[in-house]
Amino acid sequence: MTMGKITKAVIPAAGLGTRFLPATKAMPKEMLPVVDRPAIQYVVEEAVNAGLTDLLMITGRNKRSLEDHFDREPGLERALELKGDQGRLDLVQQASELGPIHYVRQGEPKGLGHAVLCASQHVGNEPFAVLLGDDLIDEAETLLTTMMDVQQKTGGSVIALIEVDPSEISAYGCADITAIEGEDFVRVNNLVEKPAAGEAPSNLAVIGRYVLHPSVFGVLENTEPGRGGEIQLTDALQTMAAGEGEGSGVYGVVFKGRRYDTGDKLSYLKAVITLASERVEFGEELKTWLKAFVG
Ligand code: G1P
Repeated sequence: MTMGKITKAVIPAAGLGTRFLPATKAMPKEMLPVVDRPAIQYVVEEAVNAGLTDLLMITGRNKRSLEDHFDREPGLERALELKGDQGRLDLVQQASELGPIHYVRQGEPKGLGHAVLCASQHVGNEPFAVLLGDDLIDEAETLLTTMMDVQQKTGGSVIALIEVDPSEISAYGCADITAIEGEDFVRVNNLVEKPAAGEAPSNLAVIGRYVLHPSVFGVLENTEPGRGGEIQLTDALQTMAAGEGEGSGVYGVVFKGRRYDTGDKLSYLKAVITLASERVEFGEELKTWLKAFVG
């Protein structure tokens, strides 16, 4: 069944950021800069570019700088205006012009599934997108809009998958899929959160973009803590993949485009270097320097 147009994006940003300690002791990991913008800004921009106009961020303790970043900063704006620095003024205003963002606090770190459940009152009975901050999708890609189309077509829920080396699958949710003839999306038969390398049903990894049917909320309410003692979104989606009622059925879009992982220190550094090397202002200079540095 096709429901209304998708307008809502849920952006979980309540994680403790333990993989980045000590940098994240007093600041949220979502604020770590990727070249010159905090990682979270790329994600909000992606949602807005996909036409999502109602943004809800799930935050927690120590996340106030996220709200400040997307708010106006009149003192700073005035100072830049007085200096006649229009370029920097534009950059500062970009973040607050992305649209109103709503915030709700998760309260307790009970997992991604629980974070999504915190959005239920705001989202109500509509399909919605979920964007995780650790994955940056290149702005030239259309992954999210493709996934929204698949949701509208199937009436179920949609996940994004990438092929990974089998040795890496234990860092991700993993999907067992079947191709659908004539379609460029797949049916998801089974999902397992972070399986051991030898036990994974495939090398297809779940990445941080979802378009979900609102029935996920009812399922999450009844999902027991899973891996790591946390309520896992993957486990709720497994229930929905196997279910038959309204809104059940999980589909996958296999993404082959450009994605940058900022989830741990090494992949974050790679993401920063890749994106910096593409900047017109200093990309060429950076690449020349890197070549000389590596020798
Ligand atoms: C979460 C999900 C996992 C998914 C990953 C993508 O894990 O639980 O299924 O593969 O995001 O980034 P996390 O990275 O938050 O541990």
